[in-house]
Amino acid sequence: MDRLVIIGGNSLKGRIRVSGAKNAALPCIAAALLTSELVNLSHLPAVSDIRTMLKVLEALGCAVERAADEDGLQYTAAMRAVDLETGEMKAPYDLVKTMRASILVLGPLLARFGHATVSLPGGCAIGARPINLHLEALARMGAHIEIVQGYVEAKVPGGRLQAIDHTFEKVSVGATENTLLAATLANGTSVLRNVAMEPEIGDLAELLNKMGARVEGMGTATLTIHGVEILHGAAHATIPDRIEAGTHLCAAAIAGGDVVLERVRPDDLRALLDLLERMGCLITERDGADGKQLRIQREPSQKLRARDITTAPFPAFPTDLQAQVMAVMTQAHGISVIKETIFENRFQHAMELERLGANLRIDGSTAIVAGPAKLTGCTVMATDLRASATLVLAGLVAEGETTVDRIYHLDRGYAGLEKKLQGVGARIERVGGGSV
Ligand code: EPZ
Repeated sequence: MDRLVIIGGNSLKGRIRVSGAKNAALPCIAAALLTSELVNLSHLPAVSDIRTMLKVLEALGCAVERAADEDGLQYTAAMRAVDLETGEMKAPYDLVKTMRASILVLGPLLARFGHATVSLPGGCAIGARPINLHLEALARMGAHIEIVQGYVEAKVPGGRLQAIDHTFEKVSVGATENTLLAATLANGTSVLRNVAMEPEIGDLAELLNKMGARVEGMGTATLTIHGVEILHGAAHATIPDRIEAGTHLCAAAIAGGDVVLERVRPDDLRALLDLLERMGCLITERDGADGKQLRIQREPSQKLRARDITTAPFPAFPTDLQAQVMAVMTQAHGISVIKETIFENRFQHAMELERLGANLRIDGSTAIVAGPAKLTGCTVMATDLRASATLVLAGLVAEGETTVDRIYHLDRGYAGLEKKLQGVGARIERVGGGSV
């Protein structure tokens, strides 16, 4: 099993190209199930979650061809979902258990074929992650849903889902995506209220509209979807990954230096940019050859200031960057307070940060971080995707050698993180055959 070994102390300088967004690509891959024509998605990050999602499509009978980009960190997938009816229409437990986003195939399969069987995703390290909001919305559209031996078995009597006017009782990214996917082929006009406004949903809606769907209201809390009879093929480039970009910004903030990120969307990162500026980093935006660029500067001698954050749905501070900013806060002068409002168990990185020397306290859904703390390298264990990234960030400033174990978590969502950090001067190396 691979691990990452980091020698702390270098500041960072140079350019990093941000890959396509995993969390935007996952629902876009599911969208390919809505048509028998070719859906071509580029800028897919070379991460294991994307590979898993493509395997789910293949298990359902969809033909998938992959072509890697030159740097091997992104690729294009050409997907054609023809003749699926002849198969089982079943997303198996073995795949779904490794990645919860597999549940996103349920909406498209029901909308196009009127039936589907998808394994229940099971437990998750960052807290209970039910799918009741997905199932409630699909049931209101006319699906009969039963849980049988760990599987969601869903059928639409009459074959076609009906449009709904629906208010989600809680903001959910996945439930918004699943219902949006389903509503594109439903009979009539759906109005979905209290939807998630994350940029990844705008990207999905954009692809769906290229496929002939009629989705309105992107970027707002209400989506209107005029159902159509049939969707066609399309080509689409995945938006840049705001969480990957945010992780690199945190790397430059904690280690100090001067880093330019290429292919970013600053508007997707406002809450983090605002925090890092308030903590003392200088951030500037400019136009680049293929999209915007962000430059972050901090002299290593320049003090970081403690600041507070509360995670909440977009456009507020993202839960997916909470762990990374906790690492930065360990180096800030004063007390920083983090309130996590999305997931109940998303502070597992805190204990590993403490092993490196961080001075912090967890009180329910609040973390109190006192800084600056002197971090000293040791072996730490990654517990989930973003927690892994945090430990890497802490390793950049820890004295001596930090070894991050169980980085298969990291490989679920970061394409070549160590290569990109090496490119800006970090001393980080992937080593095979690690313990655990
Ligand atoms: C998405 O997960 C992301 N995953 C997560 O990214 C991210 O942390 C999360 O949104 C929040 O931003 C993908 O996009 C693939 P939710 P999702 O439904 O859709 C509760 C990462 O590191 N809820 O918005 O599963 C739920 O328990 C990750 O890349 C219900 O109660 O998240 C949570 O408290 C991990 N019932 C809240 O809503 C439901 O049916 C938000 O979850 C669904 C969710």
